Amino acid sequence: MAPTPNSSLVELRDLTFGYGDRRILDGVTLTVPRGQVTALMGASGGGKTTVLRLIGGQIRPQSGELRFDGEDLRTLDTAGLYRIRRRMGMLFQFGALFTDSSVFDNVAFPLREHTDLPEALIRDIVLMKLNAVGLRGARDLMPSEVSGGMARRVALARAIALDPELVMYDEPFAGLDPISLGTAARLIRQLNDAMGLTSIIVSHDLDETFHIADKVIVLANGRIAAQGTPDEVRNSTDPLVHQFVNALPEGPVRFHYPGPTVADDFGPHSGAAR
Ligand SMILES: Nc1ncnc2c1ncn2[C@@H]1O[C@H](COP(=O)(O)OP(=O)(O)OP(=O)(O)O)[C@@H](O)[C@H]1O
Ligand SMILES: [Mg+2]
Repeated sequence: MAPTPNSSLVELRDLTFGYGDRRILDGVTLTVPRGQVTALMGASGGGKTTVLRLIGGQIRPQSGELRFDGEDLRTLDTAGLYRIRRRMGMLFQFGALFTDSSVFDNVAFPLREHTDLPEALIRDIVLMKLNAVGLRGARDLMPSEVSGGMARRVALARAIALDPELVMYDEPFAGLDPISLGTAARLIRQLNDAMGLTSIIVSHDLDETFHIADKVIVLANGRIAAQGTPDEVRNSTDPLVHQFVNALPEGPVRFHYPGPTVADDFGPHSGAAR
């Protein structure tokens, strides 16, 4: 029986995940509303990319629920996961283009890999996707011939090549100048609305992200510190969230990767002093 559609496309419930013994997510409960742009924010190393990888089925949670369109990913076999994954597009953090392939071939890659469509149809789809990101004219350029902002848009066209329902963007604005950043942000919003997508965007850029997101989720120290509309999150009194939305260096958000104390490493009995 098909699961009843509900307003959330993705749902995590009391989810825990760790790499080896290191707990990264500790009872995370969040929902990603259909048709909306949801921003996942939080300090570096907080587990944002990890959440995207869990949703993409690249890693599996240790406990808790993880649902995509009502289906619990934890109970799916490889074929089931593969079927679900085809409904998702991902723009990876540091996700590079294939340097030896043209812009066209980069966008065509997922279509050639995952479908048996004839080349003529692939051409039309690729040009449509490139058109959507304003780069139809750049089809024959090589990645070395496009700017960083253009490369990001090509990667975006590649992420939506298979007409996914969910698109996950990991740091789509990193390294962009303010104008390209604004363009990329508007593009994500427009594609979401025009194509009826659901988008999750991981970003450190507070202004631009709060501007385009319908919902903001703040992840801190392995837990959800806040989730709500941009205004609700901005006005949160939670100290973690306050530190984050005001970009304060001091506060409860951990900056250091867990390890020896400063005294252990630099104190009188440390290796250097010995
Ligand atoms: N494959 C891995 N094996 C072991 N530990 C990992 C692995 N990938 C990530 N980690 C650890 O998990 C934690 C969360 O990493 P993650 O990449 O999810 O953070 P993030 O919130 O995306 O950070 P950033 O904003 O810097 O991209 C980090 O402490 C990282 O060292
Ligand atoms: Mg990351």
